[in-house]
Amino acid sequence: MEKTLSIIKPDAVSKNVIGKIVDRFESNGLRIAAMKKIQLSAADAGKFYEVHAQRPFFGELVEFMTSGPVVVMVLEGKDAVAANRALMGATDPKEAEAGTIRADFAQSIDANAVHGSDSLENAQKEIAFFFAQKEIL
Ligand code: CMP
Repeated sequence: MEKTLSIIKPDAVSKNVIGKIVDRFESNGLRIAAMKKIQLSAADAGKFYEVHAQRPFFGELVEFMTSGPVVVMVLEGKDAVAANRALMGATDPKEAEAGTIRADFAQSIDANAVHGSDSLENAQKEIAFFFAQKEIL
């Protein structure tokens, strides 16, 4: 069993599709081990995405991720990192396969509905960024 971090981004939260996205996870073998709705500060978003700090889109990414509340979750299941990424689809929704979360709910590469950890190592770091051990059940 693996754990991974998922974020439902401000675009999807404001479209009121939290439940529809959670259903994609639960219907495809992933379990919600932790979940909370939070408003990220610019400092939070900047630290979370610090690996992208030198990329040209960093400023817009931080601005977008702080534009409204997000839902952060720990997903648990077999090969959870890869399973979550397959359910999300490509980062750019224009390239996301039909039936994926981003194909169905995202508008653009910035407003792309969800984030998911890209490796087991990053999943562990990203989970620890948002959750205390006692919150993961
Ligand atoms: P996410 O999986 O949350 O990780 C970083 C985010 O940066 C990514 O999703 C996109 O929403 C955003 N982003 C904006 N422009 C780009 C780009 N050119 N390449 C990758 N990510 C981008």
